[in-house]
Amino acid sequence: MRILRLLFVLLTAASCVKAPQETSTTAATPSPHAGPVRIGFSMDTLKEERWQRDKQLIEQRAKEVGAHLDVEVANGDDAVQTNQAENMLTKGVDVLIVAPHNGEIAASIVEAAHRKGVPVISYDRLIRNSDVDLYISHQVERIGEMQADYALKHVPKGNYVLIGGSPTDYNAILLRKGQMNILKPAVDRHDIKIISDQFAREWKAEEALRITEDALTRTGNKIQAIVASNDGTAGGAISALEAAGLAGKVLVTGQDAQKDAMQRIVKGTQTMTIYKPIKPLADNAVDAAMKLAQKQPVATTDKINNGKKDVPAILIAPIAVDKSNVDVTIKDGYHTHQDVYGQ
Ligand code: BGC
Repeated sequence: MRILRLLFVLLTAASCVKAPQETSTTAATPSPHAGPVRIGFSMDTLKEERWQRDKQLIEQRAKEVGAHLDVEVANGDDAVQTNQAENMLTKGVDVLIVAPHNGEIAASIVEAAHRKGVPVISYDRLIRNSDVDLYISHQVERIGEMQADYALKHVPKGNYVLIGGSPTDYNAILLRKGQMNILKPAVDRHDIKIISDQFAREWKAEEALRITEDALTRTGNKIQAIVASNDGTAGGAISALEAAGLAGKVLVTGQDAQKDAMQRIVKGTQTMTIYKPIKPLADNAVDAAMKLAQKQPVATTDKINNGKKDVPAILIAPIAVDKSNVDVTIKDGYHTHQDVYGQ
């Protein structure tokens, strides 16, 4: 395919020392046509606090490098996301960055883009079974391992509840894979028992609340740890624990280091979260988009199989946060002191 001939995405083996990122492009970089490079950013949602940061930081980086940026948000609707992406292609974007609502359905966006010779970057969530050009995310399977590792170190025995994210988001699957890498040996040793193992549709807190209530009812309140895949679902689980008078007594994991979760960690009702710095994600995505739009190579450090091919990837390291190190998010400028401590 033409796009494949034109693109030289440099792969370095995962075992290699992390390759230095290409230096950022600037407003002076030539665009493939008169005027600035045109980037389209197709987002699933702005529901979780983190996505608002993604949007703002992508906008900021696009401005810094002199790109023209279109952002569309589908609010969890696949048909809307597909239409919005098609509209951006019709308007003539040079490159698409897509955070898919449904990792399978979004393959059609890649096909439509490639028909026009437009490269596509899969952002945060993997677009499955497609010829997508690049994947930029955090180390998602590793996040699942970090959540489970933390839980197992602090609660080596007992009843566990696993609350996954949306089953249409491949991140939810990777997280569960990572969690089970760590938990399976403990299950096999009969140290822990997984008494509930479900996925919360659309990453909904209400679903997590219901899953937790069911688990509490079924075990007569005998739950020792809840491995919630993100902070939204952790919040739902904690509401159910609060109603049962168990908040702070059951270990609860999370992900995103969002403001309410940080406050729950300080208060003691949520035990940990995973902090994923968003700025390197956004900067890498925009910088790579500039290069792909200009048919230049992008240095990558990893690869991930999406069912169709090994997709070259840039994966950023996550950081586990509990009461002992909440300040990393403040030092990093992600939160203010007031965000975390309330005042
Ligand atoms: C993201 C998480 C987010 C979740 C719900 C996942 O794909 O990686 O950061 O909390 O979606 O939006």
